[in-house]
Amino acid sequence: MRMTLLRLSRAATAALVAGAALTAAAHSAEAAEAADTLGSAAAAQGRYFGTAVAASHLGEADYVSTLNREFNSATPENEMKWDATEPTRGTFTFSAADQVVDHAQAQGMDVRGHTLVWHSQLPSWVGGLGAADLRSAMNNHINRVMGHYKGQIHSWDVVNEAFQDGGSGARRSSPFQDKLGDGYIEEAFRTARAADPAAKLCYNDYNTDGVNAKSTAVYTMVKDFKSRGVPIDCVGFQGHFNSNSPVPSDLRANLQRFADLGVDVQITELDIEGSGAAQADSYARVVEACLAVDRCTGITVWGVTDKYSWRSSGTPLLFDGNYAAKPAYHAVLSALGGSGGGGNPGGGTATCTATYTRTADWSSGYNGQVTITAGSEPIGSWAATVTFASPQRVQATWNTTPTWSGNVMTARPSWNGTLAAGASTSFGFTVAKNGSDAAPVVGGCTVS
Ligand code: G3I
Repeated sequence: MRMTLLRLSRAATAALVAGAALTAAAHSAEAAEAADTLGSAAAAQGRYFGTAVAASHLGEADYVSTLNREFNSATPENEMKWDATEPTRGTFTFSAADQVVDHAQAQGMDVRGHTLVWHSQLPSWVGGLGAADLRSAMNNHINRVMGHYKGQIHSWDVVNEAFQDGGSGARRSSPFQDKLGDGYIEEAFRTARAADPAAKLCYNDYNTDGVNAKSTAVYTMVKDFKSRGVPIDCVGFQGHFNSNSPVPSDLRANLQRFADLGVDVQITELDIEGSGAAQADSYARVVEACLAVDRCTGITVWGVTDKYSWRSSGTPLLFDGNYAAKPAYHAVLSALGGSGGGGNPGGGTATCTATYTRTADWSSGYNGQVTITAGSEPIGSWAATVTFASPQRVQATWNTTPTWSGNVMTARPSWNGTLAAGASTSFGFTVAKNGSDAAPVVGGCTVS
């Protein structure tokens, strides 16, 4: 369901006072039409918001509807890798990658190319070649794969993960590194520029998101490339985070130092293990870091739904296994300046109900609770109005982020927007009676 939301000012949000004491002016509402998908919200910020796409899931209706609705960029998750495109030397197969590219193009999405030269998912025949043969095989691979998609790829991950983890900042051992030496990376970039001059050429890596020895090694390489005219346009930061590798506090500063070298930066494979508010907060911090850097041109999450993630047990993505939007989704959408969203994954009509109970009562006040229950479809967010009798005064709320208009509170989720079909959550408030014992009137629940 898509809807235009009326945004109330922050001042009104902060006000806990209901009743005539608040003037209409204090609650002056500004009508704002906010984007309600990740792609449209990112576009309004001059960015793209993409996802990894697996050709094997393109026959699944909910996968496709979520992909089409939310994302405006696609990265084939495995289909463009060397083992998929050239499993046997000189024999190229593009059928699976073409499926992803065709789908993306039909939807008007950009395509990121991933990836040309990487030590992993590399067929064994490559490792068996001598240096001269390997050089020629690498350049041929770049020419053939980029040639097949010439003019159709927004950005290519030309070289992926060429640096070791850990503190050394050294190059990772691979057939390319071991036989061709450091120069293979710039050779790959030069070949790539000639193969498709329209594509942005990226170096892509992980554990390079903050300032550390590995990211500094990449930084030093990019700086050298720029000073010598080696063609490089962008650096991809994969952004695979979990409790052992949390979103670094210097992510923005790190993105900025690369941007200052004269390259675009992109978050290319974002996923963050966890759930609920903590996961949502981490996602929001990544989006905020990107938006704070002019040359951060877009974000790609590494998959549509938790159930198909490469680390699905960590539930690291924005949609759960039923394609319900998670708190992380709403945090990302909100950080991008959008609101609402989340779609209606089950295909039926998403509904919710709101029921009120007084949970505590004393002479001068009471506590109320409103239970929100999803109907037969999962929901990604909800809203319910609660009208308080004058001169009652709301002193506190919990489990909701309220906005106010006079004595009418519009309650929306704080962390508890996503509900499976039939599931419930509740929010509550403490009210000073000020002489009135009237029950508040709870308006209908709406799915947003
Ligand atoms: O397609 C075969 C299937 O036929 C077979 O039955 C099955 C049995 O294991 O394997 C399937 O292939 C798997 C493939 O994903 C497709 O699902 C591979 O085993 C599995 O290794 C492969 O994992 C991919 C991984 O890269 C391999 O390196 C993940 O999907 C993919 O998300 C992941 O992506 C990488 C980026 O390319 C680079 N950065 C890190 C990122 C996460 O590891």
